[in-house]
Amino acid sequence: MNTEASRTLINPRSSSTRTVSIAGTGCYAPERVMTNADLERLVDTSDEWIYTRTGIRQRHIAAQDEATSDMAAEAARRAMKEAGIEADDIDMIVVATCTPDMFFPSTACFVQKQIGASRAFCMDLSAACSGFLYAMEVGQQFISTASADTVLVIGAEKMSSVLDWRDRSTCVLFGDGAGAAVLQSRGAEYGIMTTVLGSNGNLSDLLSIPGGGSRNPLTAESLEEGMNTLRMAGREVFKHAVTSMSNAVLEALRRCGASIDDVDCIIPHQANARIIQAIGQRVGAPIEKFYLNVDRFGNTSAASIIMALDEAVRNGRIKNNDLVLLVVFGGGFTWAASLVEW
Ligand code: UT7
Repeated sequence: MNTEASRTLINPRSSSTRTVSIAGTGCYAPERVMTNADLERLVDTSDEWIYTRTGIRQRHIAAQDEATSDMAAEAARRAMKEAGIEADDIDMIVVATCTPDMFFPSTACFVQKQIGASRAFCMDLSAACSGFLYAMEVGQQFISTASADTVLVIGAEKMSSVLDWRDRSTCVLFGDGAGAAVLQSRGAEYGIMTTVLGSNGNLSDLLSIPGGGSRNPLTAESLEEGMNTLRMAGREVFKHAVTSMSNAVLEALRRCGASIDDVDCIIPHQANARIIQAIGQRVGAPIEKFYLNVDRFGNTSAASIIMALDEAVRNGRIKNNDLVLLVVFGGGFTWAASLVEW
């Protein structure tokens, strides 16, 4: 046995924690666009109702043979290009999704195969619409403790595959898409500064896909009852979303000694423009501080925030050194807020 004196080991976790930056982002939306007028032909609804209640004008819908991992891989390729990395640089892939290709293998493994990231280890993360920020926090922890150098974090959903297209109270709200971010330590002073995470399993019944798992396996009866599709108590979810996201925003600011006026851009989960307005009132931020694209994509669940972030970066709304606040809410319930120096 080695005596302590004769050992010369390197402890990869011993150095001070590393700051983690978002080195590049990318997103992908399927080609097919479904407008509110298209939905008027499917269910008893109107463009006027959908737009005034939600701010949604249209959403993108994946092709029948297009799975979540296909969209995720395309977003990943764009993020890798933006970050200037190759597939071989990736140590870890985390995919946040509630519409995986299959129960297993993980969607992250399918992405690995498609992009050829053979060195990476891969896993999915389930936190519904909040998944992307949960996954980003997992990636950031691996990098800051030197367990990984380059992490690909993806939010991707094929929500159209879990909707009841006869239920007007849910089918008008969601869309498909994917977004990806490459995380690395690039020596920034701040990078991802903090991520506030929260959950409340007591309220799980208010937003769920109850069938298909071990609680209610898929049978002819459960399919007949539509248990394989999304259920939501919209008004209740709305109230909790406003409260939890507002509190998470304030907690993230408090942790970093920042005020809302220090923030250059807020990227909220894109579920409903009215939820975003209500958060603005609670946290004291004018609506202009928020980036919105819910009108064009609807609620893409775990993909929503990273698709919006990518778009805001590409169109110049977010610039170097800007302070960016990301905030999400979803089934579980789950919520999260991150403060990031760009
Ligand atoms: O991503 C996870 C988080 N999800 C969310 O944050 C979604 C949160 N919830 C919401 O965004 C809103 O609650 C909804 C947009 C889902 C609904 O808006 P609302 O203002 O809460 O409407 P409501 O559910 O209270 O429904 C009002 C009325 C009802 O009719 P009655 O009972 O007043 O006669 C509904 O039947 O609107 C009716 N309605 C519709 N009418 C036309 C519900 N869906 C539709 C529809 N078209 N698509």
